Amino acid sequence: MERLIVFRHVRAIDPSSSLDAIIDVVIENDRIVRLGPNVGAEAAKADWAQVIAPPPGAWLLPGLVDLHAHLREPGQESKEDIRSGLGAAAAGGFTDVCAMPNTVPVNDSRMVTEAMLSRAHEVGGPRLHPIGAITMGQRGEALTEMGDLREAGAVAVSDDGRCVTSSSVMRRALEYASVFDMPVIQHAEDHALTEGSQMHEGSVSTKLGLRGWPRVAEDIIVARDLMLAEYTGARYHVAHASTEGTVRLLREAKSRGLRVSAEVTPHHLLLTHEAVGLYDTACKVNPPLREEQDVQALREGLADGTIDAVATDHAPHGILDKHCEFAEAKPGMIGLELCLPLLLGLVEQGALPLNRLVESLTHAPSSIARLPDKRIREGARADLVLVDPEERWTIEASRLRSKSKNTPFLGRNVKGRVKMTLVAGNIVFNGGS
Ligand code: NCD
Repeated sequence: MERLIVFRHVRAIDPSSSLDAIIDVVIENDRIVRLGPNVGAEAAKADWAQVIAPPPGAWLLPGLVDLHAHLREPGQESKEDIRSGLGAAAAGGFTDVCAMPNTVPVNDSRMVTEAMLSRAHEVGGPRLHPIGAITMGQRGEALTEMGDLREAGAVAVSDDGRCVTSSSVMRRALEYASVFDMPVIQHAEDHALTEGSQMHEGSVSTKLGLRGWPRVAEDIIVARDLMLAEYTGARYHVAHASTEGTVRLLREAKSRGLRVSAEVTPHHLLLTHEAVGLYDTACKVNPPLREEQDVQALREGLADGTIDAVATDHAPHGILDKHCEFAEAKPGMIGLELCLPLLLGLVEQGALPLNRLVESLTHAPSSIARLPDKRIREGARADLVLVDPEERWTIEASRLRSKSKNTPFLGRNVKGRVKMTLVAGNIVFNGGS
């Protein structure tokens, strides 16, 4: 045996195994081998055992899975690269990260997918799962070789950052991706309705004199795509759902048994367009921050399972991309290290059950990306995150591992901190050390 790790007296929470109990968890090499009250006492005596006595009240959760991150490698490594992105992921409790293809060049080929995977392999830490593009160069025209992408290791296809606006291209994409059992992840935005837009179309955009991105630009695409998904029987997934309308459409589609899924970001669950204030570029994001009624609908949708997963849409940008006029600023905010602490605030307020939060960051995204299931049980791979739900801390740029610090949450006090992340029994993050 190479490795023996023993967690003593920790609250292990895994809704998909109906587990919520204070137990010991024993890990040998890459697997959980025993769990139960006091089962670690014997193993802890071994002189090679690494015994972990978690802070009182700490939680052990299955490793988190992010369906939507921008790691910027290849091509924009000054914003983030695979090493820094995976480091940030580990610090955020993520053991698996799906990387969007809007890199430079676009990940529309086996070559780019393979290069990303080989880089991630060198770096170690959380696993990287590339998402290939739907269309060559994300231009919305010719489909990519999805079979090749799949074989090289891509888990899904998406033109994220751009919408597949042509109904015919989208139909063929759904049909083609279903041959390889890959979900098609849509960035739902009718570009004809959002040209030149800077933020959500509403009272704040009017006051600031900025061109708006109306909700209906998302709803129209989601409505059309749900019809195409029904017609083709393919797997369809809505990226970063942001509107009340999207939640309503998904609820209706799911009530009829369609194989569709959706994700929501922490920022769309927590902020409204009011956060833009006086042109705060940290709050410029795609899709834009919306209104109270949308936030409420998204929270309800996540709580009742209409929205399956939480995804970060971690979108790092450099200082010059944000310290400029609002119209010039790039959209996006970082999220990997902030997702869990921010959303634990919603649990504390009673707006989201803890079980749903855990499920939406573990079991739900791993089943959408067809990754091995995340479970805390005997025989399962030891992908785990240790969280101190009581620790209070302030989000500061200097504490973040991501190369970019573009988030409107700097300065916010949060409660709950990731203490340790294990990927297949390897400790890839340990308490900030
Ligand atoms: C994304 C990025 O920066 O890659 N930004 C964002 O605001 N979500 C791409 C995009 O969806 O525009």
